Amino acid sequence: RIKPCRMIELAEHADPRGSLSVVEAGKDIDFEVQRVYYLYNLPMATVRGAHGHRTLQQLVIAVHGQFEITVDDGFRTERYLLDHPRRGLFIGPMTWRNLVNFSPGAVGLVLASEHYDEADYYRDYAEFLRSARAGA
Ligand code: TYD
Repeated sequence: RIKPCRMIELAEHADPRGSLSVVEAGKDIDFEVQRVYYLYNLPMATVRGAHGHRTLQQLVIAVHGQFEITVDDGFRTERYLLDHPRRGLFIGPMTWRNLVNFSPGAVGLVLASEHYDEADYYRDYAEFLRSARAGA
């Protein structure tokens, strides 16, 4: 399995009024959240992500609908299905990720450990592979 990635089960507080799930920094995730962004209006055939990060840690949640995330550490790939708002995929540093197969109306919420910094991105897969395989 790809070491820096794991599915995290979140608390779900369900009662007759509906359901509430929660992510607490320091409990459910090991990083402080510096940034939140979300993906929506997604064409079904779209591919999001398609990059890696040098240091960024993220938790991705399908808050509505479902989609899949393939993660790649330069040696192996794995595919995770996100199909419930009480589940999140933690993606650690040096992981190439593709978000695919969005259901109609799906919304993806991302909690990130750092502010946006283009210098933290690998946008080129060959460059990512070289670094990942060199243990960078
Ligand atoms: P992009 O990295 O292509 O999105 P994704 O990897 O989720 O498919 O980002 C799309 C645009 O949004 C790009 O112009 C950069 C901008 N952006 C920000 O300004 N801040 C952010 O926190 C993020 C994630 C993206």
